[in-house]
Amino acid sequence: MGVYILRVIVILFLRFNFAKKVKKSKKPKKKVGKNWRKFWKLGAEEFNTQFFDVSKEGELLAKEGHHIYNLKNLAQKYGTPLQVVLPFIIEDRLKDLIGYFQAYMKIYGYRGKFYYHYPMKVNQNKEFILSLISEGANLEATSANELWLVKKLWEGERFNSKIRVLCNGPKTEQYLDLIEELRGKGMNVVPIMESLDEIDRLSKYKGDIGVRVDLNVKADSHWDKKFDRFGLSEKDALGLSKMKNLKIMHYHMGSQIKTQKSIFDGVKHGFGIYKQLQKTHPNLDTLDIGGGFGIPYEKKKFYTAKGVSSKIIKMLKNLSDKEGIRHPNLVIEWGQYIVAPAQVTIYKVLSEKSIPKANAKSWYIVDGSFMNDLKDTWAIHQKFYTIPLNNMHSPLKTTWFAGSTCDSDDKYTAGGNYILMPKLYEDKDQYVAILDTGAYQDGLASHHCLLSAPMKIVAQDGMIKIARKREGPDAISKLFGWTNGDHK
Ligand SMILES: Cc1ncc(COP(=O)(O)O)c(C=O)c1O
Repeated sequence: MGVYILRVIVILFLRFNFAKKVKKSKKPKKKVGKNWRKFWKLGAEEFNTQFFDVSKEGELLAKEGHHIYNLKNLAQKYGTPLQVVLPFIIEDRLKDLIGYFQAYMKIYGYRGKFYYHYPMKVNQNKEFILSLISEGANLEATSANELWLVKKLWEGERFNSKIRVLCNGPKTEQYLDLIEELRGKGMNVVPIMESLDEIDRLSKYKGDIGVRVDLNVKADSHWDKKFDRFGLSEKDALGLSKMKNLKIMHYHMGSQIKTQKSIFDGVKHGFGIYKQLQKTHPNLDTLDIGGGFGIPYEKKKFYTAKGVSSKIIKMLKNLSDKEGIRHPNLVIEWGQYIVAPAQVTIYKVLSEKSIPKANAKSWYIVDGSFMNDLKDTWAIHQKFYTIPLNNMHSPLKTTWFAGSTCDSDDKYTAGGNYILMPKLYEDKDQYVAILDTGAYQDGLASHHCLLSAPMKIVAQDGMIKIARKREGPDAISKLFGWTNGDHK
């Protein structure tokens, strides 16, 4: 009996274990977590998010080589609203862009030279401009005050004397005086003629000059207006009498151009004018195709700098060979493309309000202002990529954002659609990260309701520096004529 019981126990034990083993080998119970990096479209070169990742805790990380910055920790340490500048992104993008053009010039046997000029209007912050200069950018200024900044850099010996500065925009006396002063001091400063009124003075200018032409070709861009006012008409440009010092023909079709075809249409048409202008101005040797290269703010498929640079060089080579003229030197002023991805704006969610009957369930009210800090959301309904800074693994809900001013227009709804954000919990702070805020937003920023501008910090070489402290009430009231202690 005893032996029988023992046999039953052994059989049952073996069966049980075997069954377990079979079950295990048939259906491996490996738990696969959601790929949050992919879900939030991070780490992808095509979206310019290759420098961003998600931590195990569901927090947004920025990566500079082996350095890692946890942006939620920065928001907690420095407070919000906060702008985080990532100069290594600027440096990387510019290095790549110059590399593409130079490589394709070599590959196609192009004999002109390539110059990148950074349009200062896109972001005049010192941390941006110094990073660009360090990677070999030349500059493009649009006002006397921008050129004054260049003068200060020059006097501080912050750049070498090979740098060239193009001067666009209407030339006031003050602007022209400064151009001539800097030229006199040995700077390579090239005024670009913006209207016929400027001919008199510029024809006597001792250095090279350029002319901006308002091309008769429309770009697929929000900014390309039916009636343009920039530069000389094609007819006026082609009617210019011979100017020995005319070296550059420039055009700029608009910003955030939607299709690469529009860029190529501009190059082809621009080359047509260039070739005619060269007949009367034999020293003309440079074509400046301006800015306008877009970036994928919405993280959807977009054209690439590599592809476009290849086609531009190929096209210019074929066109000039066909005409039997020298390959023009090429100037590019793509501003937004280089600097937009190098800044992240961070807000904290202050409260939640439900929205009846809308695409989104709730307003998330944040501690900054879209109208003030991200003016394009209001002015041109620009969409930005908005993601949670933390709690990225949490259950999500559909939201709209509202800023902290009293204005009903101070909101961000992703064009009336919705933004996915983690649900709010009483014991957890929720932060919002807005990517690609490095272009234009700082120069356009304002102080509606006297809200403070975000604090600005710079993350580089594994260290954090405070670039701009948070404005206190004193600093803001001064902007409106109130001085210390004078509040009567
Ligand atoms: C003359 C000129 N060049 C370059 C730019 C930069 O354009 P983007 O930032 O779209 O490349 C602008 C923008 O307005 C411009 O007016």
